[in-house]
Formats: sequence, C-alpha cells, structure tokens
Amino acid sequence: MAETLSIPPHTTRRAIYEILFPQISALVNDEPDLIANLANITAALKEAFGFFWVGFYLKKEDQLVLGPFQGPIACTRIAFDKGVCGAAYTRGETILVPDVDQFPGHIACSSASKSEIVVPVFDKAGNVAMVLDVDSDTLADFSEVDAEGLARIVTLIQSL
Ligand code: SME
Repeated sequence: MAETLSIPPHTTRRAIYEILFPQISALVNDEPDLIANLANITAALKEAFGFFWVGFYLKKEDQLVLGPFQGPIACTRIAFDKGVCGAAYTRGETILVPDVDQFPGHIACSSASKSEIVVPVFDKAGNVAMVLDVDSDTLADFSEVDAEGLARIVTLIQSL
C-alpha cells in the first residue's frame, strides 16, 4: 500500500478526484478498521484539496457525533434536526451550501467557514450511518464535481 499520495500540481478538481479515487481505494481496501479508514480518508482529502475542514460525523443513538477529521477543532455533537449535517442525515442526500450564512440553522463551528458540502454515507441496509462534512473558507467553493467525487469516495467505506 502506498502511504504517500501522488497528485500532480495544477490539476483541475475533477482530475484530482479521478487521481485520488484509486489511491484512497488502495489505502482502505485491505484495512477492516473503520476509524483507521475514516482517518486516512480525511487526511487524503485535506492533503489533495487543502480544504479548510474535512471530517465525519457518525450516527450514534439519537445524534451525530464527531469522528475522524482534519482541521480546526469542531463541535462534537449535532442533533438530527440541526445544521447542514443534520439536514443531510435526515434527508439522506448531499447538500451543497454556497453561503453558510444563508442556510437556516447552520452550525458555525468556525467563523472562517463560508461554504460547505455534506454527503451522507449509507450502510449495507441503506440507512445513513454517518455524514462526510467538508467546509471551505471561500464562498461557493463546491459544485456537482465535489458532490460526485465525494459520493464516489465514500462508497469505499465498506465496514458498515
Ligand atoms: N457546519 C456544520 C457543523 C459542523 S462544522 O462545520 C465542522 C453544520 O452546520 O452542519
């Protein structure tokens, strides 16, 4: 297993997702430990894209609880009816927020966060087991390219 990423400079975001997918796949494929894989996925996304914050919130009983992440410290628990993470969990769909100040109920863990995308991660039974939250310090930083790229990467999380 390669333990360093290889991302050519000056590559488009779409191309980075293409290059990253097989590398993350190789990183997690032979490793059954969920937390280890989530940790490496957040590190790979942070390193490849330089996102401000990237991390997982895992469904635990009746809340989402902070899991592996990269970036500044963050709120540890999110109710299902709160924030972008709660909305993505409840709806079971990816939510793109170009301006977090315009999203009712957005939870501001950091005032530097300006836009975000949250992608649900499904278990084998089709229930949302966690969400992947990516925050940017620039407005409207995410598009369908990220929605597709991140949704594909979270399919690599197999121990659910
Ligand atoms: N922005 C999220 C809260 C988590 S932090 O951004 C890390 C939300 O509103 O769901």
